[in-house]
Amino acid sequence: EKGGFDHFMLKEIYEQPSAIQDTFRGRMLPKDAIIKMAGVEDNMKTFLNADRIIVVACGTSWHAGLVSEYIFENLARIPVEVEYASEFRYRNPVITDKDVVIAISQSGETADTLAAIKLAKSKGAFVFGVCNVVGSSIARETDAGAYTHAGPEIGVASTKAFTTQITVLTLIALRLARAKGTITSTEFRHHMIELELIPEKVKKALESDDYVRSIAEIYKDASNFLYLGRGYNFPVALEGALKLKEISYIHAEGYPAAEMKHGPIALIDENMPIVVIATRKGHYDKVVSNIEEIKSRSGKIIGIVTEGDTTVKKLADHVIEVPESLELLSPLLTTIPLQLLSYHIAVMLDKNVDQPRNLAKSVTVE
Ligand code: M6R
Repeated sequence: EKGGFDHFMLKEIYEQPSAIQDTFRGRMLPKDAIIKMAGVEDNMKTFLNADRIIVVACGTSWHAGLVSEYIFENLARIPVEVEYASEFRYRNPVITDKDVVIAISQSGETADTLAAIKLAKSKGAFVFGVCNVVGSSIARETDAGAYTHAGPEIGVASTKAFTTQITVLTLIALRLARAKGTITSTEFRHHMIELELIPEKVKKALESDDYVRSIAEIYKDASNFLYLGRGYNFPVALEGALKLKEISYIHAEGYPAAEMKHGPIALIDENMPIVVIATRKGHYDKVVSNIEEIKSRSGKIIGIVTEGDTTVKKLADHVIEVPESLELLSPLLTTIPLQLLSYHIAVMLDKNVDQPRNLAKSVTVE
């Protein structure tokens, strides 16, 4: 049942190329310049008239929501707010019938997300679901939606759900952007072609597995990790830290790279491994100067870089390469080595990778 893998988590990490492909299959036709998703088409007016999009989710799904904030705003120029479902519902939020709420949930059973949906609906908002489990409570409770089609995710630590959620949300953003005219037809097509290349590039990113394992060996006994990223890759830093916490029980924090100087820099010494996402596009020079600051304080740097990078290579203790892509799609690649890193550390520490202590696959309590 684990398909020859030692754990479901590893199997699911390796399923990502095909899972991502399954997510866009039949929905995206680059040659014909078409993206078609029934849940979006049927409600196009509502989407186009929306004052803003509010994303509600928890955990990893919330991180996918954060990535989508950057994507929606950049491509479709729609203001987006991303909310922890649990905070949203308990603070008397301002919601109107001009809001579109997107609820993201792998299981479709998360109690806080379900409650946030009910609240949004009661205020007249249109609620769109992005779920993996077909027929789940959230899929049923929402007005419309799009499934991720990632296949069953068994490991408690979410992996392929995250990348397929980003894929669906990217398709929606592209479709809305085209309808609004905020991207040209050339850009539209170019993005689709690049997205179509992602499964192959994820496969390439997975080839770093052995090297990532050797890095895990070096840092497995660290008691703290810092993860830094900017822009589209800031949520990836949060997600990398969550993965490590969940399955290896090592304390980790994700931060926007530029925020480091406002506090976390005080933590840095020779015992602190710092994972920095430093792909070539996206404030590269700024991230490089963050890396220099870390280095001058003797922090250990694990850089996630674009293939062929030389600048970060000179500064970092280790660099893990991922293929080049559009900046907007880079989270689908940079997240791969972070999943592998947490996996290998947890295995080396002899932790229960697929069923970490205190955690359940779906959190059905509020
Ligand atoms: O099923 P959901 O996507 O609604 O779950 C939300 C979170 O509970 C979930 O992502 C959790 O954070 C994972 N264990 C992360 O790996």
